[in-house]
Amino acid sequence: MQIIRSVSEMKAFSEKLFREGTPTVFVPTMGYLHEGHASLFRRAKQVHPVLIASIFINPIQFNSREDFEKYPRSEERDLEILKREGVNIAFLPPASEVYPQQPGIRISYPALTEGKLCGATRPGHFEGVLHIVHNLFLWTKPAAAVFGEKDYQQFLLIARMAQELDLGVTVYSAPTIRESDGLAMSSRNARLSASGRREAIRIFHALSLGKNGMDSGSSLDEVRQAMLEPLQPLKVEYADIFHPDTLTPLQERAEEYLLAVAAWVDGIRLIDNFLIRKPH
Ligand code: PAF
Repeated sequence: MQIIRSVSEMKAFSEKLFREGTPTVFVPTMGYLHEGHASLFRRAKQVHPVLIASIFINPIQFNSREDFEKYPRSEERDLEILKREGVNIAFLPPASEVYPQQPGIRISYPALTEGKLCGATRPGHFEGVLHIVHNLFLWTKPAAAVFGEKDYQQFLLIARMAQELDLGVTVYSAPTIRESDGLAMSSRNARLSASGRREAIRIFHALSLGKNGMDSGSSLDEVRQAMLEPLQPLKVEYADIFHPDTLTPLQERAEEYLLAVAAWVDGIRLIDNFLIRKPH
């Protein structure tokens, strides 16, 4: 595995691969890697054999300095995982090169963020994500990229950005990987206390009850009520059923939908969702 720590070196390398006609696939991460990331790497390898993965904790997508500073870090362990998973190029750019100046440009997608899911309570978060992903795409020049469905709103925004700005990157999603009790894997889980870890499972229960309700023909109000029940002890930001393309709350029952929850456990904000699509 080649480790690249500068933007100029990454650009030169990806340019060379591009000229040679070698398509690459890219998985951006913020490190503290777990099985969820490993599944993205495996999915990516099925798309193209040359895999670039980045580790960069993007300061401009955090809503508080504290959250950014508390984000778990473990570079040595991460590099071992990247190697084990067959990543060909690990890109770890320094913040000074990623943001030589405070970015003034904003890439925003108001229709899918304003008042919608995480966009409603995390002002500027998705602008920060789109900014870094846009630049990482420019620097790594991949033919394809893979994102986790756990961050479904993020995936949708990135897929739309790639399409509308014609970035030449095909954006794929990969299913959420769960602990044996159902908790969605996330780097943030590492910060949960033992009791918080037990409470966190309520999010999966809420989604499961929502899905059961949809399967058994309950009304949307009944489904919404059923989802809220297990979440009672938590501070809930949203727990609802959305249209998977517009992210607006469903007005009537539909075959395709997104059940999604954001809730706080131990002062840590956790999100999860079930995406229900008809087989095409
Ligand atoms: O999902 C993440 O880990 C981040 O939001 C991403 C896509 C790497 C951008 O910083």
